[in-house]
Amino acid sequence: FQDIISLLNLSCEACSSTCPVMECWFVQEKPGRGGGLTGATTQEKSLLHIRTDAQSEAAEAQRAPADINPSRVYVITDPSATLCHPSLNPPRGSIKKPQCEINPFLPQPSSIKWVASLTEPALSPPYLQADWFSASFQNLDKHLGVSTISRAPTGSKEHDVILSITSKTMSAKSRLGEPVTLDCSFWVDPSTPLSTSGFSVEWRYQTRGDGRLVLAYDGKTDRLADSQERGVSLDFQALHERGNASLVIEEAKVRHAGTYICTVYLPYLLAQVAMELEIIEPPSLSIHPSPLPLAAPGQTVQVQCEASGFAPLPLELSWEFKGADEKSRSLGSGSMSGHRQAWDGTYSQSSRLELDTSKMDLGRGGEVTCVAVHAGGTRRASVTLNAIGFSSPSIEDSMAMVGVALVLYGLIKFVSWTFTGSGRKEHFSRLNKTKCIFYLQLIQIFRLFSDLTVFFFFL
Ligand SMILES: *[C@@H]1O[C@H](CO)[C@@H](O)[C@H](O)[C@H]1NC(C)=O
Ligand SMILES: *[C@@H]1O[C@H](CO)[C@@H](O)[C@H](O)[C@H]1NC(C)=O
Repeated sequence: FQDIISLLNLSCEACSSTCPVMECWFVQEKPGRGGGLTGATTQEKSLLHIRTDAQSEAAEAQRAPADINPSRVYVITDPSATLCHPSLNPPRGSIKKPQCEINPFLPQPSSIKWVASLTEPALSPPYLQADWFSASFQNLDKHLGVSTISRAPTGSKEHDVILSITSKTMSAKSRLGEPVTLDCSFWVDPSTPLSTSGFSVEWRYQTRGDGRLVLAYDGKTDRLADSQERGVSLDFQALHERGNASLVIEEAKVRHAGTYICTVYLPYLLAQVAMELEIIEPPSLSIHPSPLPLAAPGQTVQVQCEASGFAPLPLELSWEFKGADEKSRSLGSGSMSGHRQAWDGTYSQSSRLELDTSKMDLGRGGEVTCVAVHAGGTRRASVTLNAIGFSSPSIEDSMAMVGVALVLYGLIKFVSWTFTGSGRKEHFSRLNKTKCIFYLQLIQIFRLFSDLTVFFFFL
């Protein structure tokens, strides 16, 4: 029995390294009323059996789960094996599944300037008379995205992938100033009659109401369309040789953050992938004033922490204090300013903290730290606080003071006895008048001081 189980495991390891069987939402516009203008769609579960060549019989093609309509079970032949990428094929029984959606597709000529040259006027090949589908796939960690255009003879459930487009940077991140590559590559079935007429590539940028053409290239006439965008490029050799349509942004700026759509056109067909680019730059911090002024008892010291050059929002600023005991404790977030945006799109924001020496237990001072928590990482800046006479004296200090006072008192008693006692005439005769007055004054001061000390002590 054990042997059978291990055998089953082995065979399943083998099957997971092959092409997947994927559950996929079949989404289409609701037929009938509104002529599709309402945008209402229906959604059905479907099952896609992926294989790399038409000869290999999809063994399980006939078996479909009970909740899937048998007419929505498809066999898809993908000679490029793009859909057999391991990340699109999680181990059997996984709860999480790659995202997949398949829709009916209508081939049509395009009038876009850099695409129009692909389609011969008034020529609609009989090859187009078939069932066409577009499908999009995304793996679990959302880094790999694939879109395909596939064709099936009318009424057949066996599709052939004609065009596929892949991106490995579905969620790209970059710091400011770095070069960014947005990955996009495509594959065209060499046996399709559409592969001989060339292709076009288009990169668009789209973010909340803002859309613009980044780059458009007509591969048939080898022409680049006019665009306002600077500092972006394609590797044309890699594009023609390997279908590598990756966009290179020379230097990431805040305005580059957003959605990028890579579209590849064949005559009558198009496939696209949309990817996100995030520009994440942590703040640089500075503290004012630095160094802090010496703080006297009861005084309020103002400190300001300025975080600048970061993107995107939000940013959290807070304060910490580390005293002589080396323990950090929070001083709260201070009062935060609103954020300001600089010409380069980066943000700055500050926090002001009032160090109230009479309310906060700051001891003899310590280290005041400003902490900035941001998507790009946590940053800290510190400044030293020196405080004088904040604390009331400890028991030990009081005892020492009393001791000193008593010793001083004794000393003064002794000195004054020496000068005012029995031997005073002899001493006086050896002193001149100036010295004498000076010593007498000294004795008076010491006496006053020691009396005061004892007085305060008993008080
Ligand atoms: C495609 O081109 C980009 C930039 O030119 C490069 O970084 C990337 O590695 C290439 N991809 C492949 C699969 O060759
Ligand atoms: C008294 O002593 C001081 C210091 O030794 C000296 O400068 C001063 O001239 C002396 N005065 C007399 C009157 O001797």
